[in-house]
Amino acid sequence: MGFDSKPSIVILTGAGISAESGLPTFRDNGGLWEQHRMEDVATPEAFQRNPALVQRFYNERRRKLKDVSPNAAHHALVQLENHWSGPLLLVTQNVDDLHARAGSRSLLPMHGELLKARCLECGAVSVWVKDILPESRCPRCGQLGQLRPHIVWFGEMPLEMDRIFTALEGCGLFIAIGTSGTVYPAAGFVNAVPAGARTIEINLEFAIAGSRFDEQRQGTATERVPELVAELLK
Ligand code: OAD
Repeated sequence: MGFDSKPSIVILTGAGISAESGLPTFRDNGGLWEQHRMEDVATPEAFQRNPALVQRFYNERRRKLKDVSPNAAHHALVQLENHWSGPLLLVTQNVDDLHARAGSRSLLPMHGELLKARCLECGAVSVWVKDILPESRCPRCGQLGQLRPHIVWFGEMPLEMDRIFTALEGCGLFIAIGTSGTVYPAAGFVNAVPAGARTIEINLEFAIAGSRFDEQRQGTATERVPELVAELLK
């Protein structure tokens, strides 16, 4: 089914879109939250209690980015952005840089970015590709040992929520890809779109219980996303 005119699109992606690039998801078998307790590595309290452990968790994930590349799903979303004549916003819960590396420009990483560090002293957010270590200095103010990963932890407010909700409230098509829909506010985005908007979900598997989406497309992101993009651009 195509569109007569070009509606505004909001796309939400989760860890499942990067799974086939070789990055583990959080909640699948062998996922990150099976190997680490979320309370130990992804909360402000964990960082206060044991900053070295939290830094190590994110340092390891930051290093891993060097070994992976964007996949066909990331690339297909760039193609959609480049050829869709209506507005498009790509909101990602992922902190990897695979959407950006593929070439997405209208991109909003709502849970922060592994390749940035934030200074607890001056608040500056800086590009950061190496490990964050006790001897690391803020590139802006020069303070020692005050950098934290620029990641939204549990209990913190995701980034740019006003911009996201404005886009959702004006969209005609909402697409969620590779997210378990368990973490709010992202899990509630589908409820914020106008009554007439079309909603599509792509995931490897779906819960049996009723869906809040009009359409569910089961399969891998690298198959289903290029397929959907081709359909939309037809
Ligand atoms: P999850 O690990 O909760 O969910 C990943 C989803 O991707 C699951 O529903 C899988 O079925 C699906 N999936 C796995 N491989 C796939 C593939 N090849 N193609 C399509 N789908 C696939 O990850 P998120 O929903 O992204 O937050 O998790 C949301 C947030 O919870 C994360 O941003 C993170 C986490 O705790 C913070 O750390 C703040």
